[in-house]
Amino acid sequence: MFNKRNSLIFVSLILVVGIGTYVISSILVPDKNLSQRYSGKILGNKADIILTKACFNCHSNETKWPWYTSLPLINILISSDVAEGREDLNFSNWGSIPEDKRLFYLEKVFDEIEKKDMPLWIYVLGHPEAKINKDDLKILKDKATALGISFKPPA
Ligand code: HEC
Repeated sequence: MFNKRNSLIFVSLILVVGIGTYVISSILVPDKNLSQRYSGKILGNKADIILTKACFNCHSNETKWPWYTSLPLINILISSDVAEGREDLNFSNWGSIPEDKRLFYLEKVFDEIEKKDMPLWIYVLGHPEAKINKDDLKILKDKATALGISFKPPA
């Protein structure tokens, strides 16, 4: 069954599908990083280091794009997460969010961490350093209390 002719068809098919997905991916995937940055305070000090390690890859313009994020199809999945994440909350635009609206976003931030919805679990599988640990939760709890935001650190 696997004679020369069939093998040739098989290899051609793989090539066509491969090149096809590559081309489609590169059309669908948007620009990687916008230039807008924010270097001021969000929650302050150590809490901002936690946000940076756990959230910035999807919620800022400072996304790191390791080599595998360029692979066809994977790049579509990852860049759509980043695009959606930035759309909901982009810390690089923090400077242009009015003071009174910041609290509204911070409430959502604590809420997502409390529910363990963020950082996305599938992301943490590949990025163990993004996991929010017990010490981090303590720091975040103090910040929430200071801001008058209700936050029950998840177990
Ligand atoms: C791997 C990418 C990724 C990481 C890392 C990530 N997020 Fe998200 N985030 C998303 C995506 C995608 C959405 C929109 C879809 C959804 O809600 O699941 C989102 C939505 C949100 C929202 C809006 C939720 C709503 O319902 O309005 C908040 C707030 C948020 N994330 C906070 C965080 C915080 C805080 C961290 C870090 C502790 C974090 N995210 C880490 C991808 C990510």
